[in-house]
Amino acid sequence: MNRPAQRYNRGARLLHWAIALLIIANILLGIAHAYIDKDWPVIPLHKSIGLTVLALTMLRIVWRSGHRPPPLPTQMPRWEKGAAHGLHGLFYALMLALPLTGWVMSSAGQYPLRWFNLFVVPKFAVAKGDVLVAFSHGSHGVLGLVFGALIVLHVAAALRHHLVLKDNVLARMTGQ
Ligand code: HEM
Ligand code: HEM
Repeated sequence: MNRPAQRYNRGARLLHWAIALLIIANILLGIAHAYIDKDWPVIPLHKSIGLTVLALTMLRIVWRSGHRPPPLPTQMPRWEKGAAHGLHGLFYALMLALPLTGWVMSSAGQYPLRWFNLFVVPKFAVAKGDVLVAFSHGSHGVLGLVFGALIVLHVAAALRHHLVLKDNVLARMTGQ
């Protein structure tokens, strides 16, 4: 039997870092939009980045369903492995839920939905007042903030592995 790979491959790493950067940018843009000059098209940019995250996440899920992740260090306690897997599962859920609630919410709005001004993105057949729209509107910002807090936890765990435990967990994702 083949030995499992010891690192995430190049494609998985590229997707991880691209999605990470886009999500962090979008949380910041989402929070900052109320304070930024109205002439600057913050929300159209936010929507385009968010839809890109959705497409890349679907690609990543396809990759993930065909590949086992590299094994975690054998000395890592079971509870910690469980916590890491649980958090990663929650991340995948949020990587889908944020763009989808944003897309539903914007489908009920008056503005056309365009991807980086290049092409029109179809809207869901929803209208203001629908339960789904109210739910999406109510949850989008809260989920964004929860995501931000979990990302801080994820980064702290990665840095702890690299700087304190000095194992290969971060290297599996940087390819170094
Ligand atoms: C928005 C930001 C981020 C998101 C959504 C995110 C998401 C994820 C997900 C879902 C995984 C699991 C991969 C899998 O097996 O399918 C993962 C693994 C990993 N991430 Fe991130 N990540 C983010 C930012 C970062 C940052 C900034 C760092 C480093 C400082 C980092 C370091 C790692 C490492 C080392 C792993 C491998 C850990 C393991 O396999 O247990 N991530 N990330
Ligand atoms: C990575 C994906 C996304 C993240 C992390 C994200 C995060 C956020 C955050 C944190 C806010 C601020 C909420 C607040 O101030 O209460 C926000 C606002 C907003 N988002 Fe997103 N979002 C994402 C994707 C999308 C998508 C795909 C769309 C639409 C197609 C969208 C549409 C909006 C709109 C219209 C607002 C302003 C809402 C308002 O002021 O009432 N978002 N987003």
